[in-house]
Amino acid sequence: MKNIILIGYMGCGKSTIGKQLAKALNYQFKDTDELIEAVTGEKISEIFASKGEEYFRKLETETLKNLQGTMTATVLSTGGGMPCREENVGLLHSIGMVIFLKVSKETVISRLKGDTTRPLLQGEDFETKIEQMLATRNPLYEKAADVVINTDQLSVYEVVDAVLKQRTRGDD
Ligand code: S3P
Repeated sequence: MKNIILIGYMGCGKSTIGKQLAKALNYQFKDTDELIEAVTGEKISEIFASKGEEYFRKLETETLKNLQGTMTATVLSTGGGMPCREENVGLLHSIGMVIFLKVSKETVISRLKGDTTRPLLQGEDFETKIEQMLATRNPLYEKAADVVINTDQLSVYEVVDAVLKQRTRGDD
């Protein structure tokens, strides 16, 4: 009943795939952004606006610490910045198998154009921001992951299948 943790950039499909994966495994589904919103009573964008990014990052680490040792049979979707803090990477590994859902810049752009819920992508230079963040973050995601899945050409169900296969392999 090993937990599965999905990491990756905004718009890579962590929540959509995570929910389907949880269904397929008869696992619970949890999302760190949703847990933070439930605890604070604020939307992620409000937390960024009122208390700043650093405060949000502390909440992310706190959330992982609370899940450590208590979470079982769960698929956990994480905020896109979660693996960027080194402390979080160790926590993620202690909680479950870490799967990186990799996407191209083009896919992210097409999925997140017009999105107002991601504070880091508001304002000018939407495409440049994504390009620069992916360049910085992709190596961190790769390093943090037990498994990398290139999702661009895959349907939700194909990604779910790919994760299930990796999970079985991990049980051997
Ligand atoms: C962030 C990703 C968001 C959310 C916050 C910051 C990031 O989550 O945690 O806006 O730094 O990449 P999603 O990846 O679920 O959009």
